[in-house]
Amino acid sequence: MKTKEQTRWRTAVVTGAATGIGAAITERLAGQGMHLVLVARDGARLEAEAKRLHAEHGTQVSTLALDLSHQGAPSRLAEWLADAGTEVDVLVNNAGASLLGPVVGSDPALVRGLVDLNAGAVAELTALLLPPMVARGRGAIVNIASTGAYAPAPYVAAYAASKAFVLSFTQAVWAETRATGVRVVAVSPGATDTPMNTRRVPGKRAPGSVADTVMTALRGRGPAVVDGRLNTVQAFVFGHLLPASAAARIAERTLRRAALRS
Ligand SMILES: NC(=O)c1ccc[n+]([C@@H]2O[C@H](COP(=O)([O-])OP(=O)(O)OC[C@H]3O[C@@H](n4cnc5c(N)ncnc54)[C@H](OP(=O)(O)O)[C@@H]3O)[C@@H](O)[C@H]2O)c1
Repeated sequence: MKTKEQTRWRTAVVTGAATGIGAAITERLAGQGMHLVLVARDGARLEAEAKRLHAEHGTQVSTLALDLSHQGAPSRLAEWLADAGTEVDVLVNNAGASLLGPVVGSDPALVRGLVDLNAGAVAELTALLLPPMVARGRGAIVNIASTGAYAPAPYVAAYAASKAFVLSFTQAVWAETRATGVRVVAVSPGATDTPMNTRRVPGKRAPGSVADTVMTALRGRGPAVVDGRLNTVQAFVFGHLLPASAAARIAERTLRRAALRS
């Protein structure tokens, strides 16, 4: 079901669109008849996904192969959209990467690249594509965070910190734009069965369930949504009930084994 506002949305840009949660979101948006722009690094995989979505849903789907961790990449995307005359109604900042292991011994360049992708590109793309939405008085931006955003997470320290940035940034932009007609929301999945997370985790969710939560969040009003009941409780306990030091110590014990196995 769409709100009155949503019936006016025509085109969505989804980053990290060909796999996992991004692919499930594009499936839902295409199912609603939206035209799509798919962005990720693997151009061939994007093309295949675009052909399939067009064949199954009849929507126009274009693709742009881009490494969003590179400096200037978000501006390139914005220029490419402007050159094509594409008005973006919905932006889903979903592309992301993770890095498992202690900070000591990690590759500093990889740490920087992760922050540039997970946090930098999200902030820059939001800043680039939000103003025309506000000027038109309609549109939506969904930033995919993580339950890891709610507390420090040892062995995925940069990942969780980058997602904490996404959550805080999105909540602030939500407050700035509440009266503009533009919907801004952060959606935080917990462990989800995708190429990024192939580990066996109890209560792991399907990408389609996260996509359903995104579609519900688009119709909602609040600044942040956690996917799934168990994840919502976990985010509340770790993010609001426990002091950060206790949350970090508990997470250290839980994540140490996963880090040692990697
Ligand atoms: N799976 C989980 O347990 C989980 C939990 C919480 C949050 N999340 C978040 O959900 C989002 C989607 O992740 P996923 O689980 O669906 O994993 P995924 O299937 O690995 O998807 C990540 C997507 O991002 C793209 N990508 C990676 N690096 C990129 C770069 N430098 N530039 C442009 N695109 C890039 C990848 O495509 P290319 O390789 O072709 O670039 C891929 O399509 C991420 O933001 C992730 O942090 C996932």
